[in-house]
Amino acid sequence: MTGEEGSIRGKNSWKIPLFDLSIGEEEKEAVLRVLSSGWLTLGEETYAFEKEFARYVGTKYALFFSSGTTALHVAYIAAGIGKGKKVLVPSYTFISTVTPVIWCGGEIVFGEIEGEKNLNLSSEEIEEHDVDFVVFVPIGGFMNGIDRVKSIADEKGVTLIEDCSHAHGSIYRGKRCGQFGKVGVYSLYSNKNITTGEGGMLVTDDEEVYRRAKLLRSHGMSRLAYERYRGSSEFYDVVEIGYNYRATEMQAALGRVQLRKLELYNKKRKDLVKYYRELLDGIDKVKVPFSNYEHSSNYIFSVLVPSDRRDSIVAGLAERGIQTSWHYRPVHTFKVIKDIIGEITLPVTERVAFQEITLPLYPEMTTEMVQEVVSALKDLL
Ligand SMILES: Cc1ncc(COP(=O)(O)O)c(C=O)c1O
Repeated sequence: MTGEEGSIRGKNSWKIPLFDLSIGEEEKEAVLRVLSSGWLTLGEETYAFEKEFARYVGTKYALFFSSGTTALHVAYIAAGIGKGKKVLVPSYTFISTVTPVIWCGGEIVFGEIEGEKNLNLSSEEIEEHDVDFVVFVPIGGFMNGIDRVKSIADEKGVTLIEDCSHAHGSIYRGKRCGQFGKVGVYSLYSNKNITTGEGGMLVTDDEEVYRRAKLLRSHGMSRLAYERYRGSSEFYDVVEIGYNYRATEMQAALGRVQLRKLELYNKKRKDLVKYYRELLDGIDKVKVPFSNYEHSSNYIFSVLVPSDRRDSIVAGLAERGIQTSWHYRPVHTFKVIKDIIGEITLPVTERVAFQEITLPLYPEMTTEMVQEVVSALKDLL
């Protein structure tokens, strides 16, 4: 085997892709070690990954799930979202911040973002709305405003939940994502700052949330297969209607290696973002949201361009072999969401979203590539 067999690298047409994976020999060895171990699902690797992740984030507990979405589903239930509960969510996010609210029977209340400089949920929204829960999503890893949202939520008796899917390694006022709310969730999907292929990590300090989430992850069973294998009684009870939202030991082993590399990857991202920002400085048709990139995971690099030029710029970049993306088409504009809540308008969210282009960013990107992206962007403007 050459190691390149099965790789799609070089088979796509992008000269500069939006994202590329950073997987080394250590990850391959870790996965192979599990394959030879005789135990492939929830066991020692998972427990070790959870412990290491909790230590990194600074929470008491962490639970590894099959995806960020399944972890969010269980986090929402364990935090108390249920039938008739009102949940304030940004529309400027990925669909799966919102879908599990619907699964839980919760009522979605969409909130506006701050504006061009801060793409996160506006703290005014929590002052305005009468809700039971608020979900904060640090867009691109920028946690700006979370402290204000938290203090208003505390005053009003609203429960804060964090969707940390962009924020691996972000730090805000000395705290990591997941330390502000009752519960937080990290996605470990393929394009995240670190990955397990598919996967998600629920983090919390709340013992009751942890206990319930652990049960719901595995069919509501009072004793797990691994505990029985390790000699515990064969007897188990089913105490809740649960799910199978477990991930595998191979994913956990991969995640443990990736977690050790997170700081290094994030440093590379930071340097590239610094360079992007220097090159873009002074171009008045391009705005770069947020400014505190030193404390962000820099999951994505978003720029805002005049909305009437957006599509032609995206097409022009694609012609030059530069892949871009859109974070995000607002969730309230999707058909299924309109079917559920009806037509609404969120003027700030819509105005900002239709200016956004996500430019390539990943640890192995070179400064020459950044130069090429910026000079293509300048030409197209
Ligand atoms: C903001 C946000 N929330 C939730 C998710 C869902 O995570 P997953 O893809 O692991 O289910 C993602 C993943 O892309 C995300 O970006």
